[in-house]
Amino acid sequence: MANAPLKKIIAFYVRFTASYSKIGYHARQLFWRRLKGDYRGQTWLIVGGSEGIGGAAARSAVAGGATVICVARDAAKLSDFAASVQGPGQVICEVADFSLRNSVWALLERLQSRGQRIQVLVNNVGIQKRDQIITRESLETSFATNILSHYLFTRELLSRQLLADDATVIEVSSGGMYNHPLVVKDLNIVGEGYLGVRAYGLSKRAQVVMTQYWRETRGQSAQNFYAMHPGWVDTAAVGRSMPRFRAMLKSVLRKHPQGADTIVWLAEKKPAQADSGSIWFDRKERTAHIFPRTRQTTDTTHTLIDSLERYSARPPEGW
Ligand SMILES: NC(=O)c1ccc[n+]([C@@H]2O[C@H](COP(=O)([O-])OP(=O)(O)OC[C@H]3O[C@@H](n4cnc5c(N)ncnc54)[C@H](OP(=O)(O)O)[C@@H]3O)[C@@H](O)[C@H]2O)c1
Repeated sequence: MANAPLKKIIAFYVRFTASYSKIGYHARQLFWRRLKGDYRGQTWLIVGGSEGIGGAAARSAVAGGATVICVARDAAKLSDFAASVQGPGQVICEVADFSLRNSVWALLERLQSRGQRIQVLVNNVGIQKRDQIITRESLETSFATNILSHYLFTRELLSRQLLADDATVIEVSSGGMYNHPLVVKDLNIVGEGYLGVRAYGLSKRAQVVMTQYWRETRGQSAQNFYAMHPGWVDTAAVGRSMPRFRAMLKSVLRKHPQGADTIVWLAEKKPAQADSGSIWFDRKERTAHIFPRTRQTTDTTHTLIDSLERYSARPPEGW
């Protein structure tokens, strides 16, 4: 947001602070029922599941008896996390880097050889980088991590039948997508024109559109696909990528379980969704467009998927 005009920034905070902070959470949860929290016999897979929002979702699932495959890059952090989680379920650690297609392909092979079917997939990993970083596979990092790997991973889990017939797939997007229409050609900027906040917002918009694609193309199955956003949560990522935002709003940022609440609720309740293009927030289906300008795009679910398909091929080993 550093380059946005002051008026826009003020309008943004006036509009969203109460709702996205813990103020909104506390007000809404007065009307919620407690979850049953019984996930015995289920396997969940949470990408970015060793801390923050993904970590909190994993803790809830394990407390409800699920086996949770937690995926992250740092093996030591993962095993410390696993040791800290309270059963009766269990955590299985899987190391993979979702900024790299080769790493995602390798994880898929490990999962396939284990053959364990997954009831709940949470595509939670997402990053915002101020500086443009190009991966060794020649892609812009936030594009590769936030949307391309989510698509590739879900597509392959579906085609290898590793997702249960009634599986729930949850994309963790962000309120940051509200500022951006879908612009497929700008998702992977490897040269001039990169702006971290925009790259993040575009990839988060793309997650919602990709979810719409899954819902529309797999609507006949008993599988459920949802996009959600967690509000503003006090996580390590926020401290790293938005230190001024965190310093300003720290006292009202949500705690990790509050950010994870709608993930766990969707996985347990599998609510009907009226509009395939919606996003969920605080246990309610919401519009994915609050500004009319973000509807103005020539791109569609199909132009997005065509583009993600082009990038999904397995790169040569050793990249
Ligand atoms: N926090 C918020 O206020 C907020 C608001 C809106 C949306 N969100 C979204 O919520 C999601 C979770 O964010 P968070 O704030 O909870 O983040 P976080 O606290 O930084 O946690 C990130 C998790 O992802 C893993 N991770 C990071 N890069 C990875 C990679 N390349 N491959 C595999 N795993 C990776 C991390 O472990 P390693 O570092 O070991 O890999 C960690 O387990 C993101 O999609 C974010 O965009 C967050």
